[in-house]
Amino acid sequence: MRLLVTGATGLLGSTLVARAMAAGHETVATYHRTDPGIGDDRTEMDITDSGRVAAVVGASEPDAVVNCAAMTDVDGCEKDPERAAAVNADAPGELAAASADAGAALVQVSTDYVFDGRAERRYTEADDPAPLQVYGRTKLEGERAARKTAPDALVPRLSFVYGRHGATDELTGFPAWVMDRLETGEAVPLFVDQRVTPTRAGAAAEAILSLLEREAAGVVNVAARSCVTPYDFGHRIADRRGVPEDRLVESESTALDRPARRPSNTCLDVTRVEDRLGREQPTLEADLDAVL
Ligand SMILES: NC(=O)c1ccc[n+]([C@@H]2O[C@H](COP(=O)([O-])OP(=O)(O)OC[C@H]3O[C@@H](n4cnc5c(N)ncnc54)[C@H](OP(=O)(O)O)[C@@H]3O)[C@@H](O)[C@H]2O)c1
Repeated sequence: MRLLVTGATGLLGSTLVARAMAAGHETVATYHRTDPGIGDDRTEMDITDSGRVAAVVGASEPDAVVNCAAMTDVDGCEKDPERAAAVNADAPGELAAASADAGAALVQVSTDYVFDGRAERRYTEADDPAPLQVYGRTKLEGERAARKTAPDALVPRLSFVYGRHGATDELTGFPAWVMDRLETGEAVPLFVDQRVTPTRAGAAAEAILSLLEREAAGVVNVAARSCVTPYDFGHRIADRRGVPEDRLVESESTALDRPARRPSNTCLDVTRVEDRLGREQPTLEADLDAVL
């Protein structure tokens, strides 16, 4: 396959480019501000510039476009809702139109933050979204804009993404933050009132590529099987590193004064992706073995 990946300097985008190339796919890596340094071809493309999107997608002749670009700073989206709407809500529609014109499949990566977190069970793809903040609202609008123009678009919903960067191999996301604090001897405040199914970027990239090969369409949750609090997650990291666990401190997310509200439970049900791929999703233990 010939793939065009947006947001190729980000964690998921770089991982996708690296995994796609390793699997023998030709890959065009597109980026916003910083060249990722990987990809068979690399080109700058701001996804909010619809003229540039049409030109780059048209000239690249991809079989599939994978949109990993997004404004992912949840509090930043609350402070700049116009920018969040342009990147997360409007640009996916333009990418869908350019993909359709090029005869390419579309993957619009989305998030568990489309849910309000009030359910006391895992969320399936059939649950009604009800985002609590600008980030989730604009990402949901982006899903809808993409699917309106490209009804067969694949929409993987990810949760709490972390992993090794595809270009630099640098550990990125929550485990990196926990390990930095443990190594400097600082206390690590970890939420006990939030539950997530963490997504390792490498596992997500492989699942997305396999789903694309099977021409899967529609919303598909892509996350680990394990539903944990950040406090549990931190313990598992400290355990593996042999670091004294007394530095891990229970904390409550509600005690923090942040611009955007966060959902308390966004654990995702992964039955659909397991059925589509005919295998189990990794546990958090297996994912940590892969990155630490
Ligand atoms: N991180 C999470 O915990 C999480 C959870 C659930 C779902 N997701 C979803 O997973 C996907 C990948 O996230 P990630 O964790 O890999 O995020 P990331 O590391 O923040 O990467 C996002 C990338 O998007 C690029 N970007 C932003 N604005 C752009 C624009 N206008 N044009 C082109 N590129 C632009 C950024 O480039 P610049 O930095 O140069 O602007 C960055 O390289 C996103 O769809 C996100 O919503 C993430």
